[in-house]
Amino acid sequence: MLSASDKANVKAIWSKVCVHAEEYGAETLERMFTVYPSTKTYFPHFDLTHGSAQVRAHGKKVVNAMGEAVNHLDDMAGALNKLSDLHAQKLRVDPVNFKLLAQCFLVVLGVHHPAALTPEVHASLDKFLCAVGVVLTAK
Ligand code: HEM
Repeated sequence: MLSASDKANVKAIWSKVCVHAEEYGAETLERMFTVYPSTKTYFPHFDLTHGSAQVRAHGKKVVNAMGEAVNHLDDMAGALNKLSDLHAQKLRVDPVNFKLLAQCFLVVLGVHHPAALTPEVHASLDKFLCAVGVVLTAK
């Protein structure tokens, strides 16, 4: 459950993130594929080499979907309903992978926004990303 200050923290840092959706999304995915190679098994049809146009395009989609959740913090399940069907029922992504993606995303934010990623903001984002993962794996 996100508190009022969690919601404010997530919204505040998101204003810095959303303008870099493609860059941060691609960097997050590349880190995830490098550090947790088992995650690559979900993307056998992708070119996963550095700078891949497919990874950039997908990274942008992922971060923009997180942004949809940020815009609907009181109804994330509704905002991510279609994506929930896709990940849980069609893609059958093991829930453990959402934690891996979240970790890599936090690293990307730490690298690009070290001052903004205070311990409080980090904790709020962690809760937010966990909640997104719960929604996408709930079905
Ligand atoms: C597709 C978001 C986590 C695997 C997608 C799409 C979005 C998205 C927006 C595109 C849907 C469409 O084209 O209609 C997210 C978000 C995540 C997340 C917000 C967590 C915060 C994961 C994880 C994995 C994964 C952890 C696996 C390691 C995939 C795959 C596709 C996909 C395989 C289909 C790619 C394709 O063929 O184009 N995701 N995703 N996702 N996602 Fe996720």
